[in-house]
Amino acid sequence: MATPLRVLIVEDSASDALVIVRGLERGGYSVDWQRLQHPTSIRAALLRQEWDVIVADYGTQEQGGFDTLALLRERRIETPFILVLESLNEALAIEALRAGAHDYVMKSHAARLIHAVERGIAESRERRERRRAEEALRARERMQEEERTRHAVELARQRIAAQEAERQRISRELHDEIGQALATLLMYVDLLVPQIPADADELHEGIERIGAIARRALDGTRAISHDLRPTILDDVGLAAALRWLAHEYSSRHGGSITVEISPEKPPPLAADLEVALFRIAQEALTNAGKHAHAARVCLSLSFTGQSAMLVIEDDGQGFVPDRQSTVDRDRGIGLHSMRERAALLGGELAVDSAPGQGTSITASVPLRPRGRSLPSSPAGVARP
Ligand SMILES: Nc1ncnc2c1ncn2[C@@H]1O[C@H](COP(=O)(O)OP(=O)(O)OP(=O)(O)O)[C@@H](O)[C@H]1O
Ligand SMILES: [Mg+2]
Repeated sequence: MATPLRVLIVEDSASDALVIVRGLERGGYSVDWQRLQHPTSIRAALLRQEWDVIVADYGTQEQGGFDTLALLRERRIETPFILVLESLNEALAIEALRAGAHDYVMKSHAARLIHAVERGIAESRERRERRRAEEALRARERMQEEERTRHAVELARQRIAAQEAERQRISRELHDEIGQALATLLMYVDLLVPQIPADADELHEGIERIGAIARRALDGTRAISHDLRPTILDDVGLAAALRWLAHEYSSRHGGSITVEISPEKPPPLAADLEVALFRIAQEALTNAGKHAHAARVCLSLSFTGQSAMLVIEDDGQGFVPDRQSTVDRDRGIGLHSMRERAALLGGELAVDSAPGQGTSITASVPLRPRGRSLPSSPAGVARP
């Protein structure tokens, strides 16, 4: 049975086109063909349907073979293209092959056309299959990459949850063990003081000193314990917890700090969102205290439409922010962990800083009322 073949013939001579068609039919093809010569109709025919092969006459006046080739390239159409030459012209043939033609035949050797068509179709099929295999490979690689990212996000989530749990444990131990021991020590000091003979000045002074040290250690333990576990979030909510952080900052580092929270009583947010915003503010203020030497710091929390925006700004010495979000051994992890926390909530963290220009950290996270679960695959979480 004859093999069906759809052939677009670019040719100005109807009789030459018929010669081509008869030649192909003799080669065992049932030819469904169209002869065209005007650029617009060729363009339309190429867009309208797929062709198995294009046979173009070099000499066709309105749309020569090379113009058709250029059109195919422009449209990224990979149909086999065979150029028909009046007579052997090597330079022209090479030029045609360079321009993307699959083959060329001379009008006088019409029998060779069958061979050229078969080869062109086989090559084009091979190319299509290769491309399909490459696309399948790329799709598989994309899926593997997505899977790795999902895995990384899950690991990051687990790491942060484990970190919070560990902080809570250490905070509890500090409070319950060392804090209680120091409180007991202070109680004994208070009991002892009235029993010291009035003339035992040195003993009195020594015990007082022990008391002062124990009180300082107890205050320090409480501060660390609070830092480790923002129980204040559970007790008084995010707004008050942020004000408390600001108060801690100014008593540790001096300078002025303003807090702007709008609305003053923010809506209740999902617990992990509150913890993340609190931790981001905590790290940003710690950084300001450690690195900025700022005269003024401003912490603001606002709610715009569907997201919360936390900004911590200082007028300190600034730095060159590293856009990389991965961690390496020699650098700190504060900025990375802030970015990661924001990304895990489906939000992002912008670090705006330059030497001498102060620093501004902006965390924007989508709002989620209490009880709603996390977005499935946040962007920006660096793989471990
Ligand atoms: N507010 C700031 N002002 C000036 N420099 C800053 C500020 N915040 C961060 N930096 C610079 O960015 C670097 C990275 O900060 P990051 O919080 O990641 O690490 P770190 O504070 O050095 O260490 P870690 O947070 O792990 O204890 C800091 O070492 C500092 O040089
Ligand atoms: Mg830091």
